[in-house]
Amino acid sequence: MQYGKTQKPKGRLDGKVAFVTGAAGGLGRSHVQRMAEEGADLVIVDICRSVDTVPYAQSTPEDLRDAVAEVRDRGRRAVARQADVRDRATLQKAYDAGLAEFGKIDIVVANAGIAPLLVNDKVQAWHDAIDVNLTGTFHTIEVAIRSMVAARQGGSIVIVSSTAGLVGIGGASNGGLGYAASKHGVVGLMRTYANNLAPYNIRVNSVHPTGVATRMVADPAIVEFVARDPNLSGQAPNALPVRMIEPVDVSNAVLWLASDEARYITGVTLPVDAGFINRR
Ligand SMILES: NC(=O)c1ccc[n+]([C@@H]2O[C@H](COP(=O)([O-])OP(=O)(O)OC[C@H]3O[C@@H](n4cnc5c(N)ncnc54)[C@H](O)[C@@H]3O)[C@@H](O)[C@H]2O)c1
Repeated sequence: MQYGKTQKPKGRLDGKVAFVTGAAGGLGRSHVQRMAEEGADLVIVDICRSVDTVPYAQSTPEDLRDAVAEVRDRGRRAVARQADVRDRATLQKAYDAGLAEFGKIDIVVANAGIAPLLVNDKVQAWHDAIDVNLTGTFHTIEVAIRSMVAARQGGSIVIVSSTAGLVGIGGASNGGLGYAASKHGVVGLMRTYANNLAPYNIRVNSVHPTGVATRMVADPAIVEFVARDPNLSGQAPNALPVRMIEPVDVSNAVLWLASDEARYITGVTLPVDAGFINRR
């Protein structure tokens, strides 16, 4: 289809507002870019500091500023706040700042996550994985649902889990077990919220990526960790001939679930995994 100079193709998220956690880097930054391209305004949250048990760097305040600039470059508006998903009160303030600016939130993407996989593994790694990936997802949904239900406009909540949320591939470390448990745990949250929120036309789904080219898997400390743990290094590769997928591959699935194209999809675990799960 051809568009004249003054005509703009309709965005798949025109008129929507999305709240995204872990949005200054990796997959979250890609979700933000993709959703802005499709017409959404964004409320973006990130911790912007390191976590002791995680061997690779988290995003920085500069990354958060860059994410905002990328939204504006795409002609959309953004509200950004530094907040840790473990800290419900601060997360609520960040959400409320977005709500005050835009008047509503239609889409929630619970994306923030860590892989606390250190070679000198500590029990604290288990707690950090559960606190960020599972409790943080719970907080992200809880701070949002009151306003979404009250608005009576429906909505879409997407949880970023992992293939490690569907099959037993956490490895033997405290952090790896915490990662697998947290990523399975969010499926329980997803299924329960999908039932609780269906009467309000709010859909809840999870996506389950295979390895994606971000710091979480590409950092040398993680590569070394995986090589040392036979439970991880012995994993069969993806079925499709690709070693790692790109962030935008996951963002496109998130975008679809967030859009009205998926208006009757809820309670679904969607692998974005190049056939990884089907090969188990
Ligand atoms: N990269 C992969 O291979 C892969 C595969 C499957 C699932 N995932 C999941 O995708 C999500 C994003 O991972 P990624 O690969 O983009 O990682 P990443 O480390 O590149 O990015 C994570 C982002 O979340 C932020 N963050 C970390 N802890 C936070 C907290 N407590 N509160 C707020 N923000 C926080 C970081 O600063 C960073 O910007 C995670 O939930 C991860 O488990 C990633």
